[in-house]
This record gives sequence, structure tokens and C-alpha cells, in this order.
Amino acid sequence: MEYADLLIENHGKVAVIRLNRPKAMNALNDNMMNELGDALYKFDADSAVNVIVLTGSEKVFAAGADIAAMANYTYADTYPGNYIGRNWEHILNVRKPVIGVVAGYALGGGCELAMMCDFLIAADSAKFGQPEIKVGVTPGAGGTQRLPRTIGKAKAMDMLLTSRMIDAAEAERTGLVSRIFPAESLMEEALNVANTIAEMPVSVAMAIKDSVNRAFETTLTEGVRYERRFFHAAFGTPAQKEGMSAFLAKRKANFEGM
Ligand code: CAA
Repeated sequence: MEYADLLIENHGKVAVIRLNRPKAMNALNDNMMNELGDALYKFDADSAVNVIVLTGSEKVFAAGADIAAMANYTYADTYPGNYIGRNWEHILNVRKPVIGVVAGYALGGGCELAMMCDFLIAADSAKFGQPEIKVGVTPGAGGTQRLPRTIGKAKAMDMLLTSRMIDAAEAERTGLVSRIFPAESLMEEALNVANTIAEMPVSVAMAIKDSVNRAFETTLTEGVRYERRFFHAAFGTPAQKEGMSAFLAKRKANFEGM
């Protein structure tokens, strides 16, 4: 796959998508978001891929929506034109796990895109922020919604209203990222995490992702009912037969193609 604003790497069952507009701090523009949707859908449909990693460069994940492109937008370009809605949220339709791997800045739309991933791994150099207020707009890709759900109202209000950036340690403390690694070993460590997941049965990984996401959309009782259906259905799958018989035989399970 060849893209103008993305770099693609294949690491066995893990596909890595790198945001790549180095001259503009990976600012997210229409072309990049269209390409990102295309790549995500292709990997989601590719039976050779179990896990997708979304990352940027060593310096920046993404410094937000492209301010140069937005500066002259009118209301007609945004609401009728469905700015953001038209191409930023394809990632939410991906059914396989998507790990966001962040080094350097994840600001504005960059932080929002990161929060659309299933979980985040960060370098110790990472900085997260929602500085939209400084350019005279609210966040537009879920910052006012996903940030408070993830780090709580006090921290989210502080970040959104002051535009203060938080570093990797604060991001981990508040639950925005799951793990931090030294910048030098970030990709190696992130690929280890991705490979661990890629060796699991992809169908179960997809069901877990689906169930966890349900937790944010429904009541506890309904969410548990939703999970229970997947659990019961698992007993009709090769993954359950292989996983449990491998455990009893004291051998490593082989979930290839499951
Ligand atoms: N859009 C367009 N271009 C951007 C950009 C953005 N979001 N962020 C950086 N760039 C460009 C700069 O204009 C600059 O271009 P030139 O070399 O042509 O001048 C280049 O990238 C390098 O940037 P800096 O010189 O500013 O680099 P720095 O190291 O001094 O600072 C930074 C880095 C702190 C990330 C700073 O660039 C910055 O604050 N960027 C803007 C962050 C921002 O406000 N993001 C929110 C955007 S609004 C949004 O995202 C809406 C939404 O919710 C959907």
C-alpha cells in the first residue's frame, strides 16, 4: 500500500500505520484522514493481520487538525460539509484491536485520534493536550467527551480550558495511557505488546473489544448480558476447544486462523 501521508509497515500479524506529514507536525488533513480510513479498513479485512498499531514519528504523533486548511473554513464547509464526521471516525468501525503508540506531541485532534484507539502506549517523551481554545474553537473529534470519561472531569476541564499539556507520567497516572516506555525502545516494546495480542485468537480479541466498548454505551446489567452472549458463544468456537485442551495437555495453544 502506497500513501502520500502515511507509512505502512508489516510485522507479521501486526500492521503498523505511521502518520507522516513531517513538515506540518503530522497535522491531520483530509487526505491523511481518507488514507487512514482506507488503510484501517484494508487491515481490518486482511486475515493475515490480527492487530493494528497507529503511530506517528519520534517527535510527534499529531499536532491536531490542520490549522492551515481550517483557517478559511466557513460554516458551510463544516456543518453541511460534515467536517470531522466525514472521514475522522473510520477508526471506530475497526473491529480488530488498534493500539495507539505516542511519542512527542498528541495535541488537539491528535489527542482525540489517539483516544479513539483501543488503548495507548506512550514514550516518556509524550505530551498530550487539547489546545483548541487557543485557536478559538472547541475540540471537534470527541475531546470534550472521551477525555473526561478517561481521566475524570477535573483533569479534563483543566486541560481543555487552560490548554495545559500533560506529560507521559501524568497521562499514565490519570489512565490516559496504559504503559510508558523509554523513547528509544518505544516501538520495540509496543510491538512486543502488539505481538502478544496477535498470538491470541483474533475472534476473541474482537469480542472483548466489542464488549469493553459496550461498557461506555449501556447500563451495567445490559453490558454484562452483552458480554455473557459472547462467553456462551465461545463454546461453539475452535478457539475455546484449542485453548482449553492446550491448557489441560500443558502445551502452548495454537490459535492460528481463530
Ligand atoms: N496545523 C497545521 N500546521 C501545523 C500544526 C497544525 N495543527 N501544528 C504544527 N504545524 C506546523 C507549523 O505551522 C510549522 O510549519 P512551518 O514550518 O511551515 O512554519 C511546523 O508545523 C512546525 O511547527 P512549529 O514551528 O510550531 O514547531 P514547534 O516545535 O515550535 O511547536 C507544537 C510544536 C507545540 C506542536 C506547535 O506546532 C503547536 O502548538 N501546534 C498547534 C497545536 C494545536 O493548536 N492543535 C489543535 C488544532 S485545532 C484541532 O485539532 C481541532 C479539533 O479538535 C479537531
